[in-house]
Amino acid sequence: MTARLAVKGLAKHYGGVHALRGVDLSVDAGEVVGLVGDNGAGKSTLLKILSGAILPSDGQIFLDGEPMEFSTPSMAREAGIATVYQDLALAAQQDVVSNFFLGREILAKGFLGKRLGWLDKKAMAAHTKSELARLGTKIADIHLAAKDLSGGQRQALAIARAAAWTSRVLLLDEPTSALGVEQQHQVLELIKRVKHEGIAVIFISHQMQDVLSVCDRAVVLRLGQVAATLEPQDMNTENLVGYITGAKVSASSHPHLEVSAK
Ligand SMILES: Nc1ncnc2c1ncn2[C@@H]1O[C@H](COP(=O)(O)OP(=O)(O)OP(=O)(O)O)[C@@H](O)[C@H]1O
Ligand SMILES: [Mg+2]
Repeated sequence: MTARLAVKGLAKHYGGVHALRGVDLSVDAGEVVGLVGDNGAGKSTLLKILSGAILPSDGQIFLDGEPMEFSTPSMAREAGIATVYQDLALAAQQDVVSNFFLGREILAKGFLGKRLGWLDKKAMAAHTKSELARLGTKIADIHLAAKDLSGGQRQALAIARAAAWTSRVLLLDEPTSALGVEQQHQVLELIKRVKHEGIAVIFISHQMQDVLSVCDRAVVLRLGQVAATLEPQDMNTENLVGYITGAKVSASSHPHLEVSAK
């Protein structure tokens, strides 16, 4: 099976800082891959490259087997990749509906829409409501401003928005950070539903319980490299923490160790 999304030899350096040093990674349709690693390991950098926010220094990206180059976020979006960044990027003063459509507003039909750029507010509200419901997001009043939502509702809105506009890949950078138990649960359920719709998901998190609860596999980044890829049978807290901290070292990520062991 061709992976939905694959990267090969991805590298990024900022001057002398090597944020990524040749990363290989793949995600299938309907699969959630956890991307874990210590602060500064390169997780957000990898995600920003996949979403077209920054350019790689080297390496390739494949979407359903097709080589892709995303020089802008809109190119990645149009290819079916949606992203929830670490800082969420909601418009605080605008309501739920406006945030849901940010940059994709529905124009009113006919003259008003075409000539005056009037928005079809009714259609937008109905669409927002049905999409939030489809993804199980609990927001009672869609006319509240984003700043008046709870932290969990804001994260759920950012994810529901991304999920609603994606067709192929959803990238999530720490969507459950700093959430209460119930709110976290809501976001995790949302990720599971997106997965069941056949979308490939990359989920960055520092919360090992969350990774264990929604991810099919986990890729551990350490100092800009893949330290280990954990398959379901190896997915446990001890392995995750071990590879993240460097207490464990995978033979495959250091071929020279394998040779010297023989
Ligand atoms: N614009 C930039 N200029 C210079 N260095 C950068 C830039 N962006 C990221 N870096 C560096 O690249 C490395 C990886 O950063 P990145 O944000 O990808 O880490 P991360 O794994 O997401 O960490 P965290 O868990 O703290 O979010 C860090 O050393 C960081 O300082
Ligand atoms: Mg980060």
